[in-house]
Amino acid sequence: MSNPPLRRRVSPAIPPAAPRRVTIREVADLARVSIGTVSNVLNNPFLVAPVTRERVLGAIAETGFVRSTAAHQLRGGKSRSIGVVILDVANPFFTEMVRGAEQALRDEGYVLVLCSTDESAERERHYLRLLEEQRVAGVLITPAERELDALVALAGRGIPTVLLDREAGGHALCSVTVDDVRGGELAAAHLFELGHRRIAFVNGPSSIRQCVDRRRGARRAARQLGLVPDEAVVELTVPALTIEHGEQGTERLLQVTPRLDAVMCANDLLALGVLRGLATAGIKVPDEIAVVGYDDVAFASMLSPALTSVRQPKFELGVAAAELLLEESRSHAHEHREVRYEPELVVRASSQAAPHPRTAAASSARRRTQS
Ligand code: RIB
Repeated sequence: MSNPPLRRRVSPAIPPAAPRRVTIREVADLARVSIGTVSNVLNNPFLVAPVTRERVLGAIAETGFVRSTAAHQLRGGKSRSIGVVILDVANPFFTEMVRGAEQALRDEGYVLVLCSTDESAERERHYLRLLEEQRVAGVLITPAERELDALVALAGRGIPTVLLDREAGGHALCSVTVDDVRGGELAAAHLFELGHRRIAFVNGPSSIRQCVDRRRGARRAARQLGLVPDEAVVELTVPALTIEHGEQGTERLLQVTPRLDAVMCANDLLALGVLRGLATAGIKVPDEIAVVGYDDVAFASMLSPALTSVRQPKFELGVAAAELLLEESRSHAHEHREVRYEPELVVRASSQAAPHPRTAAASSARRRTQS
């Protein structure tokens, strides 16, 4: 049944006042100075005598004058905008990372232009072209595009570009990342230590490098236990790292025979979708199946059961990337570098079942040998 039309009340049309922008000429006349003096107060205040500077600032406040950075840019000035291109604005992982970048850049007088690509390489190319047309002062990006050549070329055209949550892989770009191979290994090893020997891995597409690295880590954990990776890690790939795709992936997960009793997810949105799917199917977490997410976003600890997750330092990633961008935009002597953080496993109720029969047997065996 289609939803009833949204109820809304529209007030009678009020004709808008004709737009009128205060000009720099009006400010100069009011302050009894030249236009050049007003421009100096805005761009090189140290060139203007304090008493004159105060008179001009008073005229700016009185008229409500706001300078046009577009006009300033046309005269060769630098933009104060930074493009931030992320995969999914609905994912708290990215909004927390953007919050860190915004704090570092706001203090330096920059404003962010946020672009969400929904993991589409085509949409990413569209946004990068718009940002370049705007002559932004720099770009922070979590690429959807597998290749980085276009970003190297963008930087080569004078727009400093820093990778967020993606390695540079030898390209001439700065990057800020978390060791996702280690993160995948932490998630899988935790489930293996609980006695699980066949775990599902609900993962995103291989076009996303983070998904490839997390898979490598999970398979490395299996090999370290002497397990066959293809048997111990049953991968279920979904088209996008969203709640909906996690819920859809659960149907496939429950069709695997023999039934899997543990699942790790490539991020917390997928894990939330899996938890919803399991609840719908009446499957108890963690008693019947243990669940582990990735990112440790704010809601992970608020779920019931609270979600075990691999924590990424989201805010710090954003701050570090912004600081690299500021350094690169200010110094020709800047040398590209990769800032790398370590992930951390945060264990919560979604994976803490009663000891698994195999684990219980194994631990009593260990006690026997130790006594
Ligand atoms: O950047 C790709 C993925 O890695 C995102 O979905 C985010 O959740 C991070 O974990």
